[in-house]
Amino acid sequence: MAMKMRAAYYEAFGSADQIKVGELEVPELKEGEVLVRIKAAAVNPVDSAVREGHLKQFLPINFPAIPGWDVAGVVEDRGFSARRFAVGDEVYAYARRPLVQHGTFAEYIALPESYLARKPQNLSFEETAGIPLVGLTAYQSLFDAGNLQAGQTVLILGASGGIGTLGIQLAKNCGATVIGVASQKNHAFMQELGAHHTIDYNGQDVGEAVKAIAPDGVDLIFDAASGETLTQSLKALKPDGKLVSILNQGQDLDKNLNFQYVFVEPNSAELDILCELAEAGKLKVHVSQTYPLDQAAEAMRQIETHHTKGKIVIVP
Ligand SMILES: NC(=O)c1ccc[n+]([C@@H]2O[C@H](COP(=O)([O-])OP(=O)(O)OC[C@H]3O[C@@H](n4cnc5c(N)ncnc54)[C@H](OP(=O)(O)O)[C@@H]3O)[C@@H](O)[C@H]2O)c1
Repeated sequence: MAMKMRAAYYEAFGSADQIKVGELEVPELKEGEVLVRIKAAAVNPVDSAVREGHLKQFLPINFPAIPGWDVAGVVEDRGFSARRFAVGDEVYAYARRPLVQHGTFAEYIALPESYLARKPQNLSFEETAGIPLVGLTAYQSLFDAGNLQAGQTVLILGASGGIGTLGIQLAKNCGATVIGVASQKNHAFMQELGAHHTIDYNGQDVGEAVKAIAPDGVDLIFDAASGETLTQSLKALKPDGKLVSILNQGQDLDKNLNFQYVFVEPNSAELDILCELAEAGKLKVHVSQTYPLDQAAEAMRQIETHHTKGKIVIVP
């Protein structure tokens, strides 16, 4: 008989009210996969978008579906040919699969071992769980798409949440000057993370505020906020600068803009880089709140405010 585990899940698209917590079968371990006992799972805005059905055109789903794509945990078992990690190893991963069904708001998940990386030794499981999705997104946006270089200036829109807090640190660490945009109450927080300048998106034109700091404009805009904040910011992009957005897919943008949309991909080699940075003390994760599995719906309601500071994490 299949082993059972506790999990948060939903059986139809809808609001956080759809979330139930109960017993489901532990996912079957297939060839090349590793069974991970989940110690912590971070919550991301996309978990709510998937639950609401906004991604169903791109990502097929099997109900009951367990939300959650971020995991830190311990290797419990290995499928045939999975030999990169030993039972007992502490690992972390960005766990998005082509089919939405087995997420990380649960006690166990089976993942291809190629998704996994070694957990940073100096971080807790809760802090570690806060890295994969936002860390990979920031890394792929700033460096793979944005080609950010030392000496350049980057403007990060939405710089106090999950993406921004990792983005500020990665950009600063590469030698860039960082301008972070978020509400006033988070400015000291962004400066502690390494932002050289901070701008409030309330009560002023963000682009004019950026030009007062960088009169020649910025080399890169990393957009994790979009809307009016992005529209205002574009006037502060250098003529040869680049816009990388993780929200705007370009339909309403000037076609002459050097623009790229990024949708984060699993990449364990990049997780290894993020692990090294964390172990060198160059990447910290601010966990603003943890929730037990029973409060998974509450955690999802918090992320839906779009004003989470750092990361929130579910501990099953
Ligand atoms: N394409 C992809 O691969 C990808 C990957 C990850 C995330 N995303 C998307 O990127 C967005 C950010 O993700 P996240 O995890 O960082 O979210 P989050 O943790 O909820 O953070 C939201 C951030 O946006 C700021 N913000 C809210 N309204 C703003 C406005 N009008 N102007 C500027 N900043 C504003 C908040 O600052 P205050 O609290 O100070 O207002 C906070 O810093 C989400 O919509 C998410 O779905 C896309």
